[in-house]
This record gives sequence, C-alpha cells and structure tokens, in this order.
Amino acid sequence: MEGAPIVEAQAVHKVFRFGQVKVHALRGVSLAFFPGEFTSIMGPSGSGKSTLLNLIGCLDRPTKGEILIAGESTRRLSDSALADLRNRTIGFVFQDFSLLPQLTAEQNVALPLIYRGIPGRRRRERALQALEQVGLLPRAHHKPAQLSGGEQQRVAIARALVGEPALILADEPTGALDSRNSQGIMAVFQRLNQQGLTIIQVTHDEQIAHHSRRIVRLRDGSVVVEEEVREPFVAQEPAEVEEEGA
Ligand SMILES: Nc1ncnc2c1ncn2[C@@H]1O[C@H](COP(=O)(O)OP(=O)(O)OP(=O)(O)O)[C@@H](O)[C@H]1O
Ligand SMILES: [Mg+2]
Repeated sequence: MEGAPIVEAQAVHKVFRFGQVKVHALRGVSLAFFPGEFTSIMGPSGSGKSTLLNLIGCLDRPTKGEILIAGESTRRLSDSALADLRNRTIGFVFQDFSLLPQLTAEQNVALPLIYRGIPGRRRRERALQALEQVGLLPRAHHKPAQLSGGEQQRVAIARALVGEPALILADEPTGALDSRNSQGIMAVFQRLNQQGLTIIQVTHDEQIAHHSRRIVRLRDGSVVVEEEVREPFVAQEPAEVEEEGA
C-alpha cells in the first residue's frame, strides 16, 4: 500500500458509562486504513463494530488511545475543528439511509454542501454529478418514498460522495436490502473503490464482506483476525434506471 494511512486507530479503548454500569466496548484496537483500500469489519452483535466505525469517523472520541486522520492526531482538536475535519474527509452511509422524506433525491444529496456555504448553482451541479456516479440521475426529482430501498441507499451514497471525501464509512449499508439490491450497492462500492475511493463497511454478511479486499474480525471489543480477500466476488451493476416519463 502506498503512502500514509488515511485513518489509523492506535490502542483505542472505548468505555460507555451508564449510571453504575460500565461497558468496555473496545479494548485496545490498533488498525490502519490506507488510501484505496476496501475493508469490511465483521463480528458478532455487540462486538464493537459500530463503536469502532464511529471513532474512525470522528463522530465520537476514544476513552483511551488515539485516532489519527492523514497522520495527524485528532486528540487535541476542538469539537468544531473535529467536525470540520470530518466534513472535509469522510462520507457516511447508514443502514436506514437517513434521507429527509420531504426533499427530492437531488436536494438530499446537496444538503451537506449547504453547511459548507457552497452557492446554490454549484450545489445543484455537484448533486447531479454525484447522482450520476451512482446511476440515479433520472431519479433526481423523486422523493425517497418514490424510490426503492436500493435506490434510496444509492441516493445516500451520492450524498456521502458530494463533498468529495477521501473515505466512505458505511454501517451495515445492505442491512435493510434484499440480495439483488445489496448486489447493486456492492457494485457501486467496487466501482468507486476502483476509482480510488477508500471504503470501510461494517457487515454481518460474509457474502457482502467478500466483495471487499480485506476483512477485520472483532470479538468482545478486540481484533481477532485481519485477512486479505484473495478473490473478491464481483457484483453486477444494477440495471440502468429508465428516464423519467419513459
Ligand atoms: N451509547 C452507548 N451507551 C452505552 N453502551 C453502548 C453505547 N453504544 C454501544 N454500547 C455498547 O457497546 C457494545 C458494542 O456496541 P456496538 O454498537 O459497537 O456493537 P456492534 O458490533 O455494532 O453490534 P451490532 O452488530 O448489533 O450492530 C455493546 O455492548 C453495546 O451495548
Ligand atoms: Mg452496529
């Protein structure tokens, strides 16, 4: 792998406190993710996968240990500086898509650019480009309820891409989808990864994990094994979406 890691966890611990109860969700996890990698994080329910993804994504801070982004420690950054770094570097994709129902696909995708103060016309251009990257330009003016689950997740991926992140983090991106739509999401991820995007996904599903090139397995908050996927499954691109009105 070339260059420095995009993101690195160094001896990371996370302890959640809930009244008197302490949950040791991560127990000293050290991992590096290099530019251009496509990694799956697997493990039983409660093993710390989402906790780890949230720390890597700087949505939360470790109790002990360090998260480095592009070689720089995030420990001393203020919350707003951390949010800034996160917004410039990372795109997030969630199991439940997290789209706003009253907005069109294009408006949902453009949303992160509003917070960056990018002017309306440029936002529109970028949103349409991102929708094109996921094969959904013909659905730009549809609202989420008018889209299939697989299409909604592709809109969510376009929203993650619109800020041109170096890294995509996806927590169970196919968890709410049937196998055909899941294939479509893996096809989009594989194509984006071939174009150089770094992707880390959490999944329960061995089939889905075998579309990536590395699998990290967690158990009880620790990494038990890291393995290379020698021959990743190649996902079929979803069929072309028809033009509106066609
Ligand atoms: N905000 C929180 N407050 C308290 N405990 C938490 C919190 N978030 C996670 N935990 C606990 O930390 C442990 C790891 O949780 P995490 O969500 O990372 O697991 P996971 O591997 O993503 O599981 P799943 O496959 O079910 O999504 C669990 O025991 C969970 O109950
Ligand atoms: Mg989880």
